[in-house]
Amino acid sequence: MMKLVVGIVIGVFLALAGEYLFLTKGGMPVAARNGQPLPLEQYLTSRALRVAMARDAGRPSPISADEPNLLAGARVYRANCEMCHGSLDTEKRSAIARGMFPRPPRLMPPGEGVTDDPVGETYWKVKNGIRLTGMASFEGALTDTQLWQVSLLLGKANQLPEPVKAELR
Ligand code: HEC
Repeated sequence: MMKLVVGIVIGVFLALAGEYLFLTKGGMPVAARNGQPLPLEQYLTSRALRVAMARDAGRPSPISADEPNLLAGARVYRANCEMCHGSLDTEKRSAIARGMFPRPPRLMPPGEGVTDDPVGETYWKVKNGIRLTGMASFEGALTDTQLWQVSLLLGKANQLPEPVKAELR
């Protein structure tokens, strides 16, 4: 019994010491430039995000994806999101978008963006943000209606009516 306890104490100590050395001897990547996720980092963080979002992900939008709402969403997008997530119909990225780690994904065509995701999931991300990434929380900065409007816009990004496309250009 005593041996087991001593073994556990030593094991815990070695793990902590290893972590301390990893952090203090420069093993931990901290620069945004040429960033690569650590082993398991992507798996663990995306898993944690999915669990956190579970309750909201299935929520239907309280407003419809009609043209006035999509137009309003487009204005929100241009003012608050475009500098990171890119503009419609171009692969060009801003200096901010190119220099960040993790990279902000393109949310407008060409490309899929989040058109496959349930709108409740997108709403959760825009409202709460994603900790330790450049993705900010827009709760308070945007009204709840605006949060839904921009989420609906992203869900329909590959099938937007012409006037909404014009607003995005
Ligand atoms: C300062 C840069 C920045 C701004 C501004 C920004 N985002 Fe993001 N966003 C990010 C980054 C970085 C990620 C990727 C986070 C990650 O890797 O988990 C992200 C992720 C997302 C995602 C998840 C994408 C996916 O594939 O799951 C959505 C949706 C999103 N942002 C929507 C928005 C909306 C809507 C706005 C404007 C209201 C916005 N973002 C403004 C940087 C930004």
